[in-house]
Amino acid sequence: MTDLNREFARAYKASKQRQDEFAEISKRVKFITRIANKYVARRVSLLDVCCGNGMLVKSLERGYACVGIDIDAAAIRNASKTAKGVEFYVADMLDMHLDRTFDILTCFDAIDHGDELRRNIGKILKDFYFHLNKGGTLIFSAPMSLELWENEQSSATTFAHKGKRWAYLYRRHIGTDGSFRYDKIIVSIDGDRIRHDFRSFSYKVAEPLLKASRISSIAEKVGFKVHVYAGLSGRRWTASSTEGPVFVCTK
Ligand SMILES: C[S@@+](CC[C@H](N)C(=O)[O-])C[C@H]1O[C@@H](n2cnc3c(N)ncnc32)[C@H](O)[C@@H]1O
Repeated sequence: MTDLNREFARAYKASKQRQDEFAEISKRVKFITRIANKYVARRVSLLDVCCGNGMLVKSLERGYACVGIDIDAAAIRNASKTAKGVEFYVADMLDMHLDRTFDILTCFDAIDHGDELRRNIGKILKDFYFHLNKGGTLIFSAPMSLELWENEQSSATTFAHKGKRWAYLYRRHIGTDGSFRYDKIIVSIDGDRIRHDFRSFSYKVAEPLLKASRISSIAEKVGFKVHVYAGLSGRRWTASSTEGPVFVCTK
């Protein structure tokens, strides 16, 4: 990491902007509540697969008997300290045997993240199906969906911290050689002094990225009825949506 990248990471961590990460959790909680009210008759138990640091289940534990699983033992150790009323287990979603079923299953920002996961998405969705009660609902996001690269999804974050202003601009797109590319610019403005750092990375995939329509048809084949939302907006997703698709799959 360059000095500017490191400085940005430190400033971001200490800034008010970071609270947006918590805002994201509260948006997810609102979305889950809306979806649960709409589609799920019995709303008692919830499993969060790939729960990471447990922030989501911590915010849901008052409404549901929550369980969180993740493959990362360190994340599960942190999560157990964060949300004391939640059961956490180290487990691989490619080999899920919890011997119980849930009313709601969530899996945010994980299912399409690596070649092995994409290759096995049918198996993963089948296992999710078997871990749901009849009438239960699966909610998952797929932030690597091919449409987002085809549409050149971009974002901009700006904030001020200790008298300096920062901008972080990000775009993903498909290069002329067909590679998946991230462009990232960090700009720091301190009085008259402006610095920037531009990077372009290409993302190699052995297993092709999936279109949202393909993910939907895999989930339907497993037995789910599928509704696709544009991020957490509550609007229906279309191929030109700038938000990533969020799948709501009822059993
Ligand atoms: C990008 S993080 C998302 C964490 C959390 N769901 C969120 O949205 O903040 C992806 C998570 O998936 C977990 N993960 C990756 N592969 C997994 C697997 N095969 N089984 C279970 N967890 C896995 C990682 O350890 C990581 O915590």
